[in-house]
Amino acid sequence: MVGCGSIHHPQPKDLGNLEPRTLISHQQIPVMAPEAWLIDESDQDQRLPHHRNPKEFVSLSKLQVQFILTIFTILTLQDLLELCPGKVENYEEKLKNFYREHIHADEEIRYCLEGSGYFDVRDKDDTWIRIWIKEGDMIVLPAGIYHRFTLDTSNYVKLMRLFIGEPVWTAYNRPQEDHPARQVYIKTLESSGVAVKAH
Ligand SMILES: [Fe+2]
Repeated sequence: MVGCGSIHHPQPKDLGNLEPRTLISHQQIPVMAPEAWLIDESDQDQRLPHHRNPKEFVSLSKLQVQFILTIFTILTLQDLLELCPGKVENYEEKLKNFYREHIHADEEIRYCLEGSGYFDVRDKDDTWIRIWIKEGDMIVLPAGIYHRFTLDTSNYVKLMRLFIGEPVWTAYNRPQEDHPARQVYIKTLESSGVAVKAH
């Protein structure tokens, strides 16, 4: 998802004069652990944090166990995209589209260069976890995981989209229980000992 907004191929200045391979080596740019929490289900502005009361944070180790998050070392740098009001055509519609729950047939890999936003992912109990991505954060969502994206109230993000092999970013809206990527994802979770709630 997040295949929207103003998209352009990166220029040297965008990459801080680093080659893509250098950028993802994790040696010159630290990869930060993003904050994550369980969210309420209210219909308020999607760009608000939507914390529960009291707040319920999710640790990175729990995220790794639940979603089999993996950092890959061989990636293809595809492009950069910026999303903010006034800069993007059909901004409201695009923001709404990104917020529609979906999966992909491949990993969704994003590196946040500027600004911030929320990736929401479903846990094994089908509960939303909100992951706050800020400058310097990288996220890898496995193929087949239900997720969505929104800006936060800062209303600006610049993301680098990275791919393993051929770039693919088709979104399949929920329900997708019969999609091969979804089935592989569920099987992977179950084989790692995570019982997944039936849907
Ligand atoms: Fe997506």
